[in-house]
Amino acid sequence: MRTLDIDLGDRSYPIHIGSGVLDNHKGATSLIGERVKRRAMIVTNETIAPLYLERVLAGMGNKPSAHVVLPDGEAHKNLATLDTVFEALLREGFDRGGTIVALGGGVIGDMAGFSAASYQRGIDFVQVPTTLLAQVDSSVGGKTGVNHALGKNMIGAFHQPVSVVADVSTLDTLPDNEYAAGLAEVIKYGFIIDAAFFCWLEDSMDALLARDQKAIIEAVYRSCEIKARVVEADEREHGQRALLNLGHTFGHAIEAAMGYGNWLHGEAVSAGTAMALDLAVRLEEIDESVRARGLDLLKRAGLPVHAPDNMTTNQFLSFMQRDKKVTDGQLRLVIPGPIGRARVGADYDPEALYATLAAFCSAA
Ligand code: NAD
Ligand code: GLY
Repeated sequence: MRTLDIDLGDRSYPIHIGSGVLDNHKGATSLIGERVKRRAMIVTNETIAPLYLERVLAGMGNKPSAHVVLPDGEAHKNLATLDTVFEALLREGFDRGGTIVALGGGVIGDMAGFSAASYQRGIDFVQVPTTLLAQVDSSVGGKTGVNHALGKNMIGAFHQPVSVVADVSTLDTLPDNEYAAGLAEVIKYGFIIDAAFFCWLEDSMDALLARDQKAIIEAVYRSCEIKARVVEADEREHGQRALLNLGHTFGHAIEAAMGYGNWLHGEAVSAGTAMALDLAVRLEEIDESVRARGLDLLKRAGLPVHAPDNMTTNQFLSFMQRDKKVTDGQLRLVIPGPIGRARVGADYDPEALYATLAAFCSAA
């Protein structure tokens, strides 16, 4: 097992990464159980519960636990589903000494985390990510929340977990398209911050696609390490953290316009990254060779580099105007530079953005 620490003062926590770490026990208590204060509410969904719930319950030691099983899917990441969690907490009589355990992918992590942020004004939670995307990105850094029909992740809070336990052996049951969606966020880190990691990904993509555990652990560890350093420097996204949204402004528009769940988050991020690369070429901030390397790696990972067939530029613009990176009416975008560098800015030529949208939208 490898452990990384994220240093946020009194909100610091460990990120444990390895194969079989769900079953790492000290006596009857697992790595998850030892971070539970007095009792646990495990929040999971109908797909993950039959696969992993028993193993998590087995590690609670002498701490009583309850669980709530939510419907599966991005379409359920909303306030109505959240109410099911609050109801379970209230019915079971949870007080501030309770701990929520988020067992699942990014959808469960974001919803369980927001429940923890808001239940009785804030209780502890442990992240137990079971998708590649959640292990490399969403379980770390404390962004929690739900979608609104008018915009992705529009209701939420910053609330850090007390621990992250990422067992890469859970990825054995993850479908290929979900695994690829996680690779989109892994590739993102190479693009924005770490050219050496991008080169490692070019060399290791075949091993990652073959689900080689050593390669996966390395990819998860290096991704979490990069994210931890970014979050330590800018926890509340006043600056550098916005770089983690490469491709996301376009991608969130795709997810919302297509109906949540129809395009996977990672797929939409990949298409959005292709659009950001196109914009950067038009702005002459990168040359064609950078774009070609980026598109090549995304395509090798099995990810889309085009927008949905039926999406219009107006749909893009209306969802993008509601992005959280809009300040004073100005839409800030993450603009990739040479591999390993990117910037966030509103100082781009809007005509270049319109040209990118036109190039990616075949629909009128
Ligand atoms: P997801 O949570 O919907 O999981 C994908 C699918 O895989 C689901 O059907 C799930 O039930 C299933 N699944 C999960 N683990 C499994 C396993 N081990 N075996 C088999 N099936 C399994 O999707 P995701 O890609 O993990 O997360 C996407 C969400 O994360 C989006 O809502 C996105 O907005 C959010 N996100 C949040 C952050 C953040 O910082 N908070 C960062 C990135 C993404
Ligand atoms: N996934 C973007 C962030 O955590 O800031």
